Amino acid sequence: MTRKKITVIGAGNVGATLAQRLAEKNLGDIVLLDIIPDMPQGKALDIAETGPLCYFDSAITGTNGYEETKDSNIVIITSGVARKPGMSRDDLLTVNVGIVKGVAESVAKTSPNAILILVSNPLDAMTYVAYKISKFPKHRVIGMAGVLDAARFSAFISMELGVSVENIHAFVLGGHGDTMVPSTRYTTVAGVSIEELIPPERLKDIVVRTRNGGAEIVNLLKTGSAFYAPSAAVVEMVEAILKDKRKILPCAAFCEGEYGIQNLFVGVPVILGSNGIEDIFEINLNEEEATALHKSANEVELLCNKVDTLLGH
Ligand code: NAI
Ligand code: 2OP
Repeated sequence: MTRKKITVIGAGNVGATLAQRLAEKNLGDIVLLDIIPDMPQGKALDIAETGPLCYFDSAITGTNGYEETKDSNIVIITSGVARKPGMSRDDLLTVNVGIVKGVAESVAKTSPNAILILVSNPLDAMTYVAYKISKFPKHRVIGMAGVLDAARFSAFISMELGVSVENIHAFVLGGHGDTMVPSTRYTTVAGVSIEELIPPERLKDIVVRTRNGGAEIVNLLKTGSAFYAPSAAVVEMVEAILKDKRKILPCAAFCEGEYGIQNLFVGVPVILGSNGIEDIFEINLNEEEATALHKSANEVELLCNKVDTLLGH
C-alpha cells in the first residue's frame, strides 16, 4: 500500500511541529515546504532522524519548491505572518492574503485533487482566499480553528472541575476571533451540560478565557503565537480524513445557507471523512446562540469584503 502524501506549507513553529506530529502518528509521507533556503531541508532531516527513536517510517522531505509536493493527498497551509503582542489576527490580513494566494495558486497546479487545510490567520478569511484562488470544490477547503478553540475550552473546564479532558466534549462555533461562540449549553462533561456543573459567573470567565486563548499565549511568548495545540488540532483533522472517521469536528466550512450563513467560511460542526467535509452538521441553536454566531459571521464577512478588494474580485 502506498503511503498518503501530506504536504505542510510553512516550516515555522506550527508547520514544523505539525510535520513532527504527523510523522510520529505514521499518517503518511510528509513534504515540508518553506521559502527560506535550506531551512525546511534542515528541519525535515532533523525530524527524519527522530524516526528510529519515535518509531516511524514516514519519509520527510524538506523543500523550497513545489515539485516534491506533487499530487499530495492533503496540503496544510501554515505559511504566513504570526501575531505579536498587541496585534489582532486581523492585522495580519494584507500580508497573509498575498502569501496564501501565491501558495494556493501553486498547490492548485501541482496537487489538483488535494484536500486543503488552512491554518494561516485570520483563519476564516484565509480559507476564503484559498477557496477562491484554488477553485477547489468547497468540501476540499477546510479551515482549522474550532478544534483548537474547543481544545482550549476543554482544557480550562478540566482545570476548573479537576476531571479528565477525556470526559469533556466542548462545542465552539463561529469565526476564529474575539467573537467566537463557545457554547455552554452543548458543552458537556460525561454527557452533562457544563451549565449544570459550573456556576454562571465562573463559566463566563472560562468562555472569555477561551475567546482570548490565542492572545493569552501571544502575550506570554512575546515573539510569536501558539503552535503546540494548533499543530495537534490539525493532526486530529488529518487523521479523521485519512482514516475516513466521519468525525464531527468544528471547522471553518463554506456555508451556503446552513445556520442561516451565506457564502462564507465560518466555524461550524462538520463531518470529516475521506472526501474532506462530508456534511455540515446542523443542530438547533437558541436565539442567543444564533445571534452570537451571526455576529461572528458578520465580522468574517467584513474581512472577506477586504479580501475581495485585495484580490481585485
Ligand atoms: P512562523 O512565523 O513560525 O512560520 C511561518 C512560516 O511561513 C515561516 O517559516 C515563513 O518563512 C513561512 N512562509 C512565509 N511565506 C511563505 C510562502 N510564500 N511559502 C512558504 N512558506 C512561507 O508562524 P507560525 O507560528 O507557524 O504561524 C503560522 C500562521 O498560522 C500564522 O499566520 C498564525 O497566525 C497562524 N496560526 C493559526 C492558528 C489557527 O488556529 N488557525 C493557530 C496558530 C497559528
Ligand atoms: C491562536 O489562536 C494564533 O490563532 C492562533 O493561537
